[in-house]
Amino acid sequence: MAFATATPDTLPAWQTLQQHAQALKHVHLKNLFGDDPGRWQHFTRQVAGLTLDLSKQRWDDDTLEHLLALAHEAGVPGAIEALLSGKRVNVSENRPALHTALRLPADASLDVEGEDIVEAVHDSLAQMERLVQRLHAGQWRGATGKPIRHVVNLGVGGSDLGPLMVTHALSDYRPRDIHPVEVHFASTMDGSQLADYLSRFNPETTLFVLSSKSFTTIDTLSNANTARDWLIGRLTQHADLPDASPHAKPISEALIVRQHFIGVSASPEKMSEWGIASDHQLMFWEWVGGRYSLWGTIGLPIALVVGMAHFRELLAGAHAMDSHFRDAPLADNLPVLLGLAGIWNVNFLDIRAHSILPYDGRLEYFAAYLEQLEMESNGKSVTRQGQAVNYSTCPVLWGQLGPNAQHAFYQLLHQGTQPVVCDFIAPLKRYDEVEEPDTRRHLKAQHRLALANCFAQSRVLMLGDDALDEDGPRPEHKRYRGNQPSTTVLLDQLTPATLGALIALYEHKVFVQAVIWDINPFDQWGVELGKQIATDTQAIIDGEGDIARMDASSRGLIEALWAAEQA
Ligand code: F6P
Repeated sequence: MAFATATPDTLPAWQTLQQHAQALKHVHLKNLFGDDPGRWQHFTRQVAGLTLDLSKQRWDDDTLEHLLALAHEAGVPGAIEALLSGKRVNVSENRPALHTALRLPADASLDVEGEDIVEAVHDSLAQMERLVQRLHAGQWRGATGKPIRHVVNLGVGGSDLGPLMVTHALSDYRPRDIHPVEVHFASTMDGSQLADYLSRFNPETTLFVLSSKSFTTIDTLSNANTARDWLIGRLTQHADLPDASPHAKPISEALIVRQHFIGVSASPEKMSEWGIASDHQLMFWEWVGGRYSLWGTIGLPIALVVGMAHFRELLAGAHAMDSHFRDAPLADNLPVLLGLAGIWNVNFLDIRAHSILPYDGRLEYFAAYLEQLEMESNGKSVTRQGQAVNYSTCPVLWGQLGPNAQHAFYQLLHQGTQPVVCDFIAPLKRYDEVEEPDTRRHLKAQHRLALANCFAQSRVLMLGDDALDEDGPRPEHKRYRGNQPSTTVLLDQLTPATLGALIALYEHKVFVQAVIWDINPFDQWGVELGKQIATDTQAIIDGEGDIARMDASSRGLIEALWAAEQA
């Protein structure tokens, strides 16, 4: 395997970077810009419709040189090859992590342990396409014979966030002239989202997509069971439905489950056990991680919203980034550079908070998506060999739409005590497709307004008070210290292809960082204990366990619940 066998803190470049950081820690970003008028050119790269501006990172040419040396010493080039060629990079689960194979073109081939997997990938896409076509043609009928109008995706984590984020981002790309099908998402185990849908939708025209790689996730299965009972309760006695005929034939539960559920999972056995008809099952593979799964059949809601042609453009955009990641030299490789900027901030400048700030309402769920991608992947504290690390790994990552965050938490970014690195994300062009000229002019002006704010915020974070051409001292409460680093990612436009490239950029950035930190980004053992303890706790709440063995706080909380239920 191509990975380095040493932890990063023992590598020569790490030591060099530590010394180098001592000097650079005291240099203000404004001076770095003052010293180098060519900073934009030095630290900006473009590929696949994206421009990555790293000039506002608190680094210089020497820093980058040392970081690139670190990437070589940590074995990044070999690790990229291992990832893309299907080696078992997920060591704790002993399997490859092949989300990149989901976006290989049909004429490619990828031999993984003796089998070319590209054909199977494209067969699964073709099966998904057939289901999408039936729904878009109004040919998928519910149990009472009516065409489906609402599709509700029941899934959580990677089986929710990717499709939710992309469908929202690409809602302008809905195909015209199709039977109208609206797509919705229900993820929370408390049932709030689902309850809302059940109160509003007609069961006759509602289809559920049960999305779960494992098909064991209690959040998703509890929503699915509620949905199934709602359908059965309403459709087997359909006299109360809006236009039910008194002579209508009784409808069997089997028909209801068949016509109102599609399953998407890596476990066909569990889908069948639950009752999903075999021809309504979409498959994927254990070698696709949940948070990396939107590119295949878990992407069904995306294909339903944007159509298969646009879904394939999304895949092509991601594939363009994969090819760049494999072929570009490290010094020009966008995911490598983005990853190295993160390593520099976390491990050498001690900046361990990272905010994601898109300036485009269509990217509303991008921060939530990245929170899972980055923190579930790299929120680890043991090496690939199982040793405790003695350096920081994934920072705390959070965010929301930049314009709204300006009125919420930017105060802390500008005047708080925490150093924070920010990612600003925005498309350069928007609203060309709006037909009505006046509305187009207004909306384009609003887009410019958003960009002006985006560019202004990164400038103020960088320069502080110096952003103003103002003489004389300012009172302390009005002072801005600046020197907060940021990255700006510009998309030429937000299209399926550039969005695919953007997501793949972050996926690979996460991988590069994991390689350097010597951790496995493809498992998530840290979420298992909570699930197990929740099962025990539920048994105790239901009166089937021994509350006396719990701690005082947990006992108090459960007793408060029991008291409320009795009241
Ligand atoms: O609990 C965490 C997790 O396993 C995520 O990694 C995953 O995306 C999510 O749960 C949902 O899992 P599944 O798709 O198996 O229902």
